[in-house]
Amino acid sequence: MEIKPFEKKVWLSSPTMHGDEIKYMQEAYETNWMSTVGANINESEKQIAEFIGCKDAVALSSGTAALHLAIKLAGERLYGLPRVGHGSLEGKKVFCSDMTFDATVNPVAYEGGEAVFIDTEYDTWNMDPKALEKAFEIYPEVKLVVIAHLYGTPGKVDELRAVCDKHGALIVEDAAESLGATYKGVQTGRFGDYSIISFNGNKIITGSSGGMFLTDNVEDAHKVRKWSTQSREDAAWYQHEELGFNYRMSNVIAGVVRGQIPYLGEHIAQKKAIYERYKEGLKGLPVSMNPIDFANSEPNYWLSCLIIDKDAMCKQVRGEKDALYVTEARKSCPTEILEKIAAINAEGRPIWKPMHMQPVYRMNPFITASGQGRARSNAYIDEGVTPDVGMDIFERGLCLPSDNKMTPEQQDVIIEVIKKCFE
Ligand SMILES: Cc1ncc(COP(=O)(O)O)c(C=O)c1O
Repeated sequence: MEIKPFEKKVWLSSPTMHGDEIKYMQEAYETNWMSTVGANINESEKQIAEFIGCKDAVALSSGTAALHLAIKLAGERLYGLPRVGHGSLEGKKVFCSDMTFDATVNPVAYEGGEAVFIDTEYDTWNMDPKALEKAFEIYPEVKLVVIAHLYGTPGKVDELRAVCDKHGALIVEDAAESLGATYKGVQTGRFGDYSIISFNGNKIITGSSGGMFLTDNVEDAHKVRKWSTQSREDAAWYQHEELGFNYRMSNVIAGVVRGQIPYLGEHIAQKKAIYERYKEGLKGLPVSMNPIDFANSEPNYWLSCLIIDKDAMCKQVRGEKDALYVTEARKSCPTEILEKIAAINAEGRPIWKPMHMQPVYRMNPFITASGQGRARSNAYIDEGVTPDVGMDIFERGLCLPSDNKMTPEQQDVIIEVIKKCFE
């Protein structure tokens, strides 16, 4: 097969529009509902709540905003109302997924809390229930756990819930990447005491931006709506009894979301076909796809990823911002594969770098199933030390181009490029 760069870039995961989006945006324009009120917001909230199977969904400006308000709600329920200028989690530790996007955990810091990162397990690449149990042994006072479903694959929900229930802790569920994925037949976004989804431009469906808070509790929904619109009281003038935020979704953005909702199933089917084509095409190479716990869950296949067998890794050294590798016959590494994919005008990405490895969180505790602390980056190359699970997956894994507009022919070229890395 002749390998030529694609004329048009193949993205990791870009927005896929269908036409209805512009119709609803236009409607917002023509009816002049060009603010944070309107039919698109109401309809999107109604349809998402129905789809997820929860009582209410509150449309917000981003998944991060939804997480912030979910975490604030949890903080106030656990520790009471903070004074103005103080966070609801001030001085409190919160257990958090470690291998995730930083938006999952940043709101803990916005609320004055300290994230304690919990290592990942190999079966689903999500929070390890054993490491979570270990964390409760070390910090029995913790009452809040923030859990993400990475790359659209549900984590070990029952096990995580059992550990949290045993210790009387609440869960904030970050289903930003997993809209449409189910665990034991139930939609992700149903498992947290507070749950959220995202409509960021790279997600399975998008509003260009946006997110939603999901709940069965009408009072919580009311509170989040109020907080998100500057906490205005029902008075003739601007009256504020609580601190507010400007976090409500715009009715124009909601038009895009409303136009996308009917296509969620189609997008998932396309992403699933991409995952399966990679799985088939990469057979025989010393790599595996990101794991799926088929006995319990059906993912939304948002991103296809691979992980290289340990003994097929060539030497790769990563600094804070740069990486180097040494080519070797029949071996490769994420840096080489990503470089070769980029050379044909396609976009892959390293695995989300675990939070305990991020400089911004270098002082935060990190707990593994064995109770081992942080390993030094590149430790297993330099010192033969087995790193924690998150670091290991980060070292050996990568996200493949997973755009649902990628053609099978383009995907075959990408597969061929990966094969060549192992020649
Ligand atoms: C796991 C995870 N959590 C939270 C977010 C934040 O969502 P948003 O970008 O809508 O703020 C994202 C994505 O951006 C995400 O991938």
